[in-house]
Amino acid sequence: MCGIIGYVGHQQALPILIEGLKKLEYRGYDSSGVGIICLDEPKIMIRKCEGKICNLQELLKTHGLPESTIGISHTRWATHGVPSRVNAHPHSDCSGKILVVHNGIIENYQELKSVLVKKGHKFLSQTDTEVIAHLIEEHSEKDFLTAVQKTIRQLRGAFALGVIHSDHPETLIAARIGSPLIIGLGKNENFIASDVPAILDRTAKVIYLKDGELALLRKNLVQVYTFAGKSVRPKIDQVSFTVGSVHKEGFAHFMLKEIHEQPNVLTQMFSSRIKGFQIHLEGLQLTDAELKGFDQMMIVACGTAYHAGLVGKYIIEKLAGISVAVDVSSEFRYRSPIITPKTLILAISQSGETADTLAAVKEAKAKGAKIISICNVLGSSLARESDGVLYTHAGPEIGVASTKAYTAQLAMLYLLALKLSRVRKKISRKTSQELIKDLKEIPSLYQRILKHTQSISRIGHDNAHFGCFLFLGRNLNFPSALEGALKLKEISYIPAEGYAAGEMKHGPIALIDEYRAVVCIAVQSDTYEKMISNIEEIRSRRGKIIAIATEGDDSIKERVHEVIYIPSTNPLLTPLLVALPLQLIAYSIATKRGCDVDQPRNLAKSVTVE
Ligand code: F6R
Repeated sequence: MCGIIGYVGHQQALPILIEGLKKLEYRGYDSSGVGIICLDEPKIMIRKCEGKICNLQELLKTHGLPESTIGISHTRWATHGVPSRVNAHPHSDCSGKILVVHNGIIENYQELKSVLVKKGHKFLSQTDTEVIAHLIEEHSEKDFLTAVQKTIRQLRGAFALGVIHSDHPETLIAARIGSPLIIGLGKNENFIASDVPAILDRTAKVIYLKDGELALLRKNLVQVYTFAGKSVRPKIDQVSFTVGSVHKEGFAHFMLKEIHEQPNVLTQMFSSRIKGFQIHLEGLQLTDAELKGFDQMMIVACGTAYHAGLVGKYIIEKLAGISVAVDVSSEFRYRSPIITPKTLILAISQSGETADTLAAVKEAKAKGAKIISICNVLGSSLARESDGVLYTHAGPEIGVASTKAYTAQLAMLYLLALKLSRVRKKISRKTSQELIKDLKEIPSLYQRILKHTQSISRIGHDNAHFGCFLFLGRNLNFPSALEGALKLKEISYIPAEGYAAGEMKHGPIALIDEYRAVVCIAVQSDTYEKMISNIEEIRSRRGKIIAIATEGDDSIKERVHEVIYIPSTNPLLTPLLVALPLQLIAYSIATKRGCDVDQPRNLAKSVTVE
């Protein structure tokens, strides 16, 4: 969602701010803006506009800004007020001295605004953000830091903020609660940003600001405080991923690059987590005795991560014999889940900043549950809320549609299921070792699938005209069908539904005719015959069938229009393999239709509002 970048230092701020914004484009946005302090006068100056950052760059060509070494900028994903120039950030106060950029939602902005309006403040936008600038103005008889601190204590909701003030042209103030914000430390310069990629080619030294912390930045100083005003000694981290990982490196899109990174992500995960036939889950922070003690697990996640959680349910129940409930995070907290001391909560999130998942975790924590998480982003809010974290280390995922993060989540769930099953002695050592051997083969099977990228894309292109898709799978590939449908709809905007194939005759079969395409996951498994019966049912209603089948299954060719083969593996591991052709189908259909696959409309990479 909204992206923030701020700079104070010795260089020209504007190019740094614009470049940084471009690196945050993947988060999803509808307008952008930049504000600096013109140091000669000094006064604040703003440029903002609707649409892509290139519009802002065009505007800056005709309406340039003077040189300045301090500024803040923003990409906005509309919550309060339509996407427009007026609603774009930064926002200012009545005096025109204060500038604010904000990510998140100020829940009590209406009541604050009414009070401010009564006091004579004039508002220009429909945003919740603007109240922040006016509140700081209200407290301006205090010094800048105190005024911001006083303001923050009046705000309810989740937010990350960047603030500058023309009376204090050497100071940038940042604060966060709920929404992500990092500080980048340079030489004679410092940065704030919503995410590391925005500043990675400037510095790899970062402070992950914690919830309830505020920072004062000058070019050669960073001071961190709690909202209550207590000084804090921040932890400085060195980012381990490289600048290369936030560039396309010759691929047409980040999504395609990230699809092709999957063999590597899993190879690295397995080499660090599997030693001999032992699974090492450093970070989990649970003893074997504790792992034995749980009698139920609840998985909370959203979107693609939720689909990973559904696969997790099948494999954990099968391998470890623990009953697992899976909830979309936004529903979990409203359904009165029954949590006992023997319940283990597992939250899954690529970003670790998804507001719904964080809220679900807080709810479960309040009920006394132990929380573990599978997360990709180091130091994220979810990681901090959890008792134990299993990092997937998939590297930054820039494409909005999750690909490598999904298969990394799945791989981690297999490792967790295997660990639980060994500790609880649910499967024999031999079975466990065979499965581990098969798991370690997956990266090379990925390479084999990716060699067929072109032929899979041809199938996608040939079928890109269909106006509706159904994705069907059974058992642990039912979640794969849900994920295939989500991938397609989010980047191509084609209505797509995922269904358990057995459920088809209870409704969705009504959709099927020669104008619908049906992707059937028909890989070798216990339910293969049943899937074939479903394929026959679709065939007799003239639906166009694209099957994903196992190499060697020649007979399926006669029943369907197109077949994409995956290599043979242990049936339990097929969701890992099936994911790749599903991603490539979605990608090729969306690109054929000319869609912006890396930044689909209306979507945000990190959904930081509930
Ligand atoms: C779909 C997608 C989203 C995310 C969801 C959760 O491709 O990326 O559905 O999976 O917004 O995000 P995280 O995993 O960051 O919690």
